[in-house]
Amino acid sequence: MPGLLLDTLGGAMPAVPPVWLMRQAGRYLPEYRELRAEKGGFLELVYDTEAAAEVTVQPIRRFGFDGAILFSDILIVPYAMGQDLAFLAGEGPKLSPTLVDHALEGLEAVPERLTPIYDTVARVRSLLSPDTTLLGFAGSPWTVATYMIAGEGSRDQHDARAMAYRDPAAVQAICDAVGNVTIEYLSGQIEAGAEAVQLFDSWAGSLAPDEFERWVIAPNARIVEALRGRHPDTPVIGFPKGAGEKLPSYARETGVQAIGVDETLDPVWVAGNLPEGMPVQGNLDPLLLLAGSDRLEPRIDAIREAFAGRPHIFNLGHGIDRRTPIAHVERLLAAVRKRG
Ligand code: CP3
Repeated sequence: MPGLLLDTLGGAMPAVPPVWLMRQAGRYLPEYRELRAEKGGFLELVYDTEAAAEVTVQPIRRFGFDGAILFSDILIVPYAMGQDLAFLAGEGPKLSPTLVDHALEGLEAVPERLTPIYDTVARVRSLLSPDTTLLGFAGSPWTVATYMIAGEGSRDQHDARAMAYRDPAAVQAICDAVGNVTIEYLSGQIEAGAEAVQLFDSWAGSLAPDEFERWVIAPNARIVEALRGRHPDTPVIGFPKGAGEKLPSYARETGVQAIGVDETLDPVWVAGNLPEGMPVQGNLDPLLLLAGSDRLEPRIDAIREAFAGRPHIFNLGHGIDRRTPIAHVERLLAAVRKRG
């Protein structure tokens, strides 16, 4: 009994779609905040196998989602490539040294920073029932590179986008290196028990059209091809946030088995423009869930209806906001699981 989510990634179209939420393990849950405070910091939580497994399972216990996503972060890859990583309260993540001036020069890989994550995957798998799908994940090279280059998040990924024009060979080397580590990292997660993996390309949308091919499509295609070779039965979900009208070419050219769709796209347009039968995941606006207005249920119905002709995994268009009331998540689940 592989579970509704994995079945849907394989092409099934159950009457009620499987559902999970990006960032479902996190600060909107009081039980997360409590364990996070006890462990002292985000990285302390990630590197404590028992605690990270517990946090992964918390939203499953509370809501019965169809999928659990490994509790970790996309910035563990730069950390394993030798950058220092800190999550500072109220400031977001910081990576150092930044790569703006020296690219990868001087970085020394620390592969032992990946291995504890595989223990968490195995531990989570042992805690979950067989019908809950365990999802692994990593960031896509471009998105990870934007953080590595600037050393932090930025509104428009200015440093990385400028560097990609000024010194494309250096950015190519960074993306290639991130891609190589990501292939190993996702293979490790799959070997430890992840049944599907998602590639988060959160900043795919900041690129000009002729840059999108080079920094989004090509690096994701390379990862998908390598994983296909090693783990042909494990589906890859691509999530090129902000891809807009480039979503269909991403879907066709990267080789991903399923595609995540952000909230900016009309699901009717998406359904009409993706390859037939390709599973889609999305695309409720996380801020509508936060607000919980009387438009929530009609919107959920509209998304379900738009995607009724293909395999659909219900999700948000981006991560759940930390201020989201639990009661709104319960409303979402009731609406998604209502028989049509
Ligand atoms: O529940 C899950 O989805 C699994 C765990 C997960 C986290 N981050 C935990 C986390 C996943 C899949 C991510 C992905 C991630 N991390 C992305 C891609 C998706 C997206 O949101 O665009 C990105 C860009 C990051 C980088 C990152 N991590 C930032 C910018 C921040 C700070 C902003 C914030 O939300 O706090 C983080 C921290 C982070 N990652 C937290 C969590 C639960 C909050 C840490 C805390 O407890 O203070």
